[in-house]
Amino acid sequence: MAKKAKADAAFQRCINPDCCATFEIAQTLTACPKCGNLLDVAYDWDALPIPKKLTEFDKRWTRRPGDINYSGVWRFRDLLPFAPEDRLVTVGEGQTILFHNATLAREVGLTGGQLHLEYEGLNPSGSFKDNGMSAAFTHARMVGARRVACASTGNTSASMALYAAVLGMEAIIFIGSGKIAYGKLAQALDSGGRTLQIRGDFDDAMRLVQEAAKELGLYVVNSVNPFRLEGQKTIMYRVLEALSWEVPDWVIVPGGNLGNSSAFGKAFAELLELGLIKRAPRIAVINSTGARTLTALTNEEKVSWSGGRVDDAKVGKYYGYLDEKGIRAHTLATAIEINRPVNLKKCLRALDVTGGIVREVSDEDIIDAKALVGRSGPGCEPASAASVAGCALLVKEGIIAPSDRVVAILTGNVLKDPEVPVKYNSLQGEALVKALGLFQKRKPKYQNLPVEVDAEIGAIVGALQKPRA
Ligand code: F0G
Repeated sequence: MAKKAKADAAFQRCINPDCCATFEIAQTLTACPKCGNLLDVAYDWDALPIPKKLTEFDKRWTRRPGDINYSGVWRFRDLLPFAPEDRLVTVGEGQTILFHNATLAREVGLTGGQLHLEYEGLNPSGSFKDNGMSAAFTHARMVGARRVACASTGNTSASMALYAAVLGMEAIIFIGSGKIAYGKLAQALDSGGRTLQIRGDFDDAMRLVQEAAKELGLYVVNSVNPFRLEGQKTIMYRVLEALSWEVPDWVIVPGGNLGNSSAFGKAFAELLELGLIKRAPRIAVINSTGARTLTALTNEEKVSWSGGRVDDAKVGKYYGYLDEKGIRAHTLATAIEINRPVNLKKCLRALDVTGGIVREVSDEDIIDAKALVGRSGPGCEPASAASVAGCALLVKEGIIAPSDRVVAILTGNVLKDPEVPVKYNSLQGEALVKALGLFQKRKPKYQNLPVEVDAEIGAIVGALQKPRA
């Protein structure tokens, strides 16, 4: 990695193959000014110092906080080289772990295979968003931004508010009223973020933050910001690193605004282009049935990347249908309660590059999977468990072989949404149905009911001598 980088080796480029307009890194854009499509951060790799083998990264991560090698994002900076080293922003993101769990693997039907869980909830703000924020804030600082903004189902705002607090920037948050889990709202408020509760849902907030950004000159850190996704590529580098640089068969990820799946696809496309891997894993994106736009568009409407010429008319028609029927996203996995995913096209590209697939799972299956995850490691929030529920479904369908090596991304920490596990584990029958709006037809699979006992040793011994319910 000794070669010196050329100053203009990184730039922004429109993803539309009929446009391909390029822009300097120093510009702040969330869409191509010429055709309105999304932008990538692109690199002239020949002019950059690239490692010859991925094992070269092993010698990084030697020193502790303060050093950019401690960051699970920036120790891979050669693969997202858009900023000078002395400008990189870190709050210690990316100290995550990939756990192999044999019990969970068997439970989802991977009898001979392996299920690895990538715990992104271990990030400083408790979700994968910190990977993207370190990169977006690096860019924000490069362009001299003072006020940052996002629409959020909660985690983006928690992460943005944290980075803004560290850098002394003003954080402006747009959330749909009543649509945010308590832990996330607590974080945004605690970090001093200026929080607007929009009387609408995430899709309204997303539209409005972009309009407000134009009027007020705010720096948007949602995943329409191409720098965000550069940071999120590193989740895949860490997964490969944890697997001794061996490529798994599958990466399964919950799908909301589709930033992660898009970033993962870009990471693998670039590693292939650079000859650093020989094949990509297949990416499976999992929707909740209550927010199933990607499922509907790919599996039913047969919309695909098509070499970059996505059928915009079909997508528009689908959104028209949602409007006409008054269909709004609704799921207990509030993080992915999104019906108009802004990264749709990039996600279609990722599915194309990796032979990917899309599925939807019910909230009941998501919440059961969440309980199962909790019994095997640091736990996760509801949306994260869509990946595990999706894994079980794909094994059942025979698409994932029982002998495959699978990585499921657990996107957020269990403490983000304390309400769901408390209700799931403490209520039964009608009360449970009323509280969660689920489990009318079947019982939850992994309930862990607390036992009430008198404050007296005899009662406690008696309770503990009984077998568990
Ligand atoms: N899981 C969690 C815990 C999330 O917070 C999100 C997105 C997703 C999955 C979906 O990821 O958008 O990359 O497909 N949360 C956003 C937010 C929308 O505002 O915090 P995606």
